[in-house]
Amino acid sequence: MEIIHLSEINSTNDYAKELAKEGKRNFVVLSDKQNNGKGRWGRVWYSDEGGLYFSMVLDSKIYNPKVINLLVPICIIEVLKNYVDKELGIKFPNDIMVKVNNNYKKLGGILTELIDDYMVIGIGINVNNKIRDEIREIAISLKEITGKEIDKVEILSNFLKIFENYLEKLKNKEIDDYEILKKYKKYSITIGKQVKILLSNNEVVTGKVYDIDFDGVVLGTEEGIEKIPSGICIHVR
Ligand code: BTN
Repeated sequence: MEIIHLSEINSTNDYAKELAKEGKRNFVVLSDKQNNGKGRWGRVWYSDEGGLYFSMVLDSKIYNPKVINLLVPICIIEVLKNYVDKELGIKFPNDIMVKVNNNYKKLGGILTELIDDYMVIGIGINVNNKIRDEIREIAISLKEITGKEIDKVEILSNFLKIFENYLEKLKNKEIDDYEILKKYKKYSITIGKQVKILLSNNEVVTGKVYDIDFDGVVLGTEEGIEKIPSGICIHVR
């Protein structure tokens, strides 16, 4: 995939969208910092120098967004495994977490936007950036874990190698969607947990996560088994 490398931008997702509107597909926008990095739920994503911030644009007629959404965090974990000797996992739907001192902290996040016939997949990973005080309790960087500076462009190119290899295999039907789901579930730290899910209508459902599939989570609640589709925004606490 072509990589467009910028020194700064408001948000790589927004910039990628501008190019995608003109018909461009299969490319990456990478920026050394973002002045208005966006997280899920309209939150900010602190994007200070040293972190890895990039967005990919894929044609959603060729790749199924539901499968890609599971595949991206898998590939991030598979790359980061080579840098970190601590347990890594995916918190539903796609937060990249690392276990330090018996506590999971967030190393990275993914913001996927589905527009017309394409998807913009924005990925932020705390590599060498200093974690701001307001999120120190919940977030951590690779540098903090390993004690060394890590080459963020190397992480990106390793990610793309793994990701594009999976895309090729999916396209050639050498691997099917269920194998991706199986891997996702292997890395999930949400299955089996008691969670509180905040729905987009502000309703909160509480229960135990029995399963996760392409469409969302299967939750055991006091009222019985409920399927919570990921189509509506979900925030697991
Ligand atoms: C989240 O966990 O809330 C998702 C964070 C996604 C951040 C990335 S950084 C690159 C891309 N551009 C953005 O503005 N956001 C995503």
